[in-house]
Amino acid sequence: MELYLDTANLQEIKEVSELGIIRGVTTNPTLLAKEDPSVDFKQRILEIHRLVGGHVSVEVVSTDKEGMVREAEEIVEWFPEATIKIPMIPQGLAAVKELSKRGIPTNVTLVFSATQAIAAHQAGASYVSIFLGRLDDIAYDGIAILNDICEIWDVQGYDSLIIAASIRNPLHIIEAARAGADIATIPYNVLMQSLKNPLTDRGLENFLRDYDRYLTERQKSMLI
Ligand code: G3P
Repeated sequence: MELYLDTANLQEIKEVSELGIIRGVTTNPTLLAKEDPSVDFKQRILEIHRLVGGHVSVEVVSTDKEGMVREAEEIVEWFPEATIKIPMIPQGLAAVKELSKRGIPTNVTLVFSATQAIAAHQAGASYVSIFLGRLDDIAYDGIAILNDICEIWDVQGYDSLIIAASIRNPLHIIEAARAGADIATIPYNVLMQSLKNPLTDRGLENFLRDYDRYLTERQKSMLI
């Protein structure tokens, strides 16, 4: 399972890219709206791509097929490597079909059920994003639904890639990997939290303290 960062924040992307653990970034209008509005949208997306060097999903905001296709065409004009994020609505499926005919990769977003996921795949989606946290929020079991979808993908031999999205905690990452998701797209704070373990911190503290003690003892022994 590959890890993507779910953010539009350049500092977060720069910091995590340097760790060598992410292969892409997913953005959405809500994430973009959290950032400095004085930075031009195109510049931000191109900078994200420069920093991460891999997959970048860019979401459209039209709700009709023609508008979505037009937006996608405009995006790939200035950013040919873009994956176009399309909402899971009937008009979105029609847009995915059209974009797939033109060889433009799509990521169908806001998917909450296996039937929606199957439809997105059939329309020609390259990626299908399942929203775990938002399912949990309404007392549905997001991981159980992801498990179903991964099983269906195996049985059917579907080749579109499953993204576990709306990840809220490190357990979601583990369960998404166990289910067989191809990608988990993770917010910065959850990803950083998932790297930490108090035993690692305590272990390092002890190693450094013991090394200091060794140096002091050694210096003392050389004075004798
Ligand atoms: O990329 C979209 C998705 O990950 C959103 O997550 O936390 O807003 O449900 P969240």
